Amino acid sequence: MPMFPDAWMAELLSRNDIVSVVSEYVRLSAKGRRMWGCCPFHHEKTPSFSVTGDKQLYYCFGCHAGGSVVQFVMEMEKLQYTEAIKFLAQRVGMELPNDVDDEKLKNERAKKERLYAACKEAARFYHECLLSNMGKEAKEYLAKRGLDAKTVKRFGLGYAPDSWDSLLLHLKEKGFTENEIKDAGLALSGKKEGSCYDTYRNRVIFPIIAPNSRVLGFGARIMGKGEPKYLNTGDTLIFNKRNNLYAINMQKGKQINDILIVEGYMDVISLYKHGVENAVASLGTALTQQQARLIKRYTNKVYICYDGDAAGQNAMLRGLDILAKEELKVRVVVIPGGLDPDEYVRKNGKDAFESLKDKALTLPAYKLLCIERACDLNTDEDREEYAKKACAYVSTIEPVEKERCISQIARKSGLSRETIMSQCGATKSSKKEETFVKRGNRREKKDDESVQRRLKAERMMVAYMSLSKDNAMYVMEKMAQEDVQFENEAFTEYADALLMEYSEKDVIDEARLLSTQSASVAEAVLPALQLSDELSDSSRDIIEDCMKTMQADAIRARILEIMNGADAQMPDFAERLMEAEKLKKQLSRLLES
Ligand code: UTP
Ligand code: MN
Repeated sequence: MPMFPDAWMAELLSRNDIVSVVSEYVRLSAKGRRMWGCCPFHHEKTPSFSVTGDKQLYYCFGCHAGGSVVQFVMEMEKLQYTEAIKFLAQRVGMELPNDVDDEKLKNERAKKERLYAACKEAARFYHECLLSNMGKEAKEYLAKRGLDAKTVKRFGLGYAPDSWDSLLLHLKEKGFTENEIKDAGLALSGKKEGSCYDTYRNRVIFPIIAPNSRVLGFGARIMGKGEPKYLNTGDTLIFNKRNNLYAINMQKGKQINDILIVEGYMDVISLYKHGVENAVASLGTALTQQQARLIKRYTNKVYICYDGDAAGQNAMLRGLDILAKEELKVRVVVIPGGLDPDEYVRKNGKDAFESLKDKALTLPAYKLLCIERACDLNTDEDREEYAKKACAYVSTIEPVEKERCISQIARKSGLSRETIMSQCGATKSSKKEETFVKRGNRREKKDDESVQRRLKAERMMVAYMSLSKDNAMYVMEKMAQEDVQFENEAFTEYADALLMEYSEKDVIDEARLLSTQSASVAEAVLPALQLSDELSDSSRDIIEDCMKTMQADAIRARILEIMNGADAQMPDFAERLMEAEKLKKQLSRLLES
């Protein structure tokens, strides 16, 4: 994220008062210290969207959207950070800090502009090659895959000639340096000192384009068999596949109900050709949080439709969890016969695909299907095995979602609803003690109450820290003394940022600080900052209490970890038992104090 000079940012924010900016989109009325209106980011009839003028922040109590005026504009106008800053500057007639002394920012921006320009010129070159005689075989390949000239043009597809330097020569002629061409990912250094050659040769080219129409990178497919099937632009100054989605640019400026996530370039294009125009591709990686957030700017309703093979289904399972975590409403389109979306829509047409969409599964239903596929249901034992596994999963989901699953498991296993119901209940109570599962280094808790309790305590601490420098120092010292850490990484990040800020000044501008944080940090911190209304400088007892909650939580976690045998350092059972006893005593001392 490029940094704008502090003073310039401060002026930008002071001239774009959040109340007046938001009022251009939402009708607000004052109630208490806040202004209220209907949230523009989710559908509602009673206002739960609030704006605080004195903090210069907005927050929706319904969908938990929130942030500074910059985040508001990003969400509302579907802009990247830098674009949002430009938008706000334009709104109040401020010049961009081009001539300001920030040399580094200026250089980086200039460099990026060069890379965008190089990619754009490359895309044009590849497209022209495709249309020329040289592109004969590529044209035939695309035709064979069912694409017509109109679709080829709409997606700006191209052809990279079968040569080591045709793009290099072309771009050099247009004034680009070898380094610029390499930095854009379009050429590679050869073994011989100083040599350089085209990255993509004799391949069909799929330009990856951002919502603001800039070409960021490319996918390049081999036309016959061979490895790798696709070559993609790696990380460059302007492109990172984790932050982008193929064809997201096609959605800009459209009224869309939902977005369909597929795996491949060809899936997107082929669906489009057949009239399904809302597909994007996750660029061959497992879906990332950033990609989920990108989608969230357009809609909160997502369909996901990956290839029917095992790799596709596994990638989809991982993707689903990420989408659900971002609170997107997600459904799974299951394609019969192991086809991919491209093959299916070509064979069966748009209507058939749409009806698959109508039959799309909810997340729990899909997970049950995966469990079912993993067991075959031929014998009584198999069916029981399936019922046990399915119930173990169902016992972890929300009660309202359980209902339907229970019927489904009963039907598939041939067992009675009562049996299934009590199995789902039983699994839950026997699991109750197992509040933690170890995954990587992070503890993940299943017990909702303790998660909420801990979250609330951590939020309170962040709120308190943000009130004054003294508070921040107090909390950090205290935490270091007692050896407790925030479990929420966003809070750690924000606390560090607060301390940095306080090391330079005594009073900080929360809204400005927040606007420099990543979206995930801002999102986590916002509800915390809203709490600071409830606190005063003399709230140290509340903080003591929160600290105790965090400490107790940490001790409980440690006890469980030891007793579950998750600590390989302590394999001896008797030793583990003793250590747990010690911790239990420590816990009760703590709770009594
Ligand atoms: P698939 O192998 O399913 O390809 O990879 P596909 O999209 O069906 O391609 P066609 O139909 O054979 O042309 C899915 C996606 O994974 C990424 C690409 O983004 C591809 O679209 N991928 C695949 C790569 O990046 N590199 C590869 O070598 C293969
Ligand atoms: Mn395919």
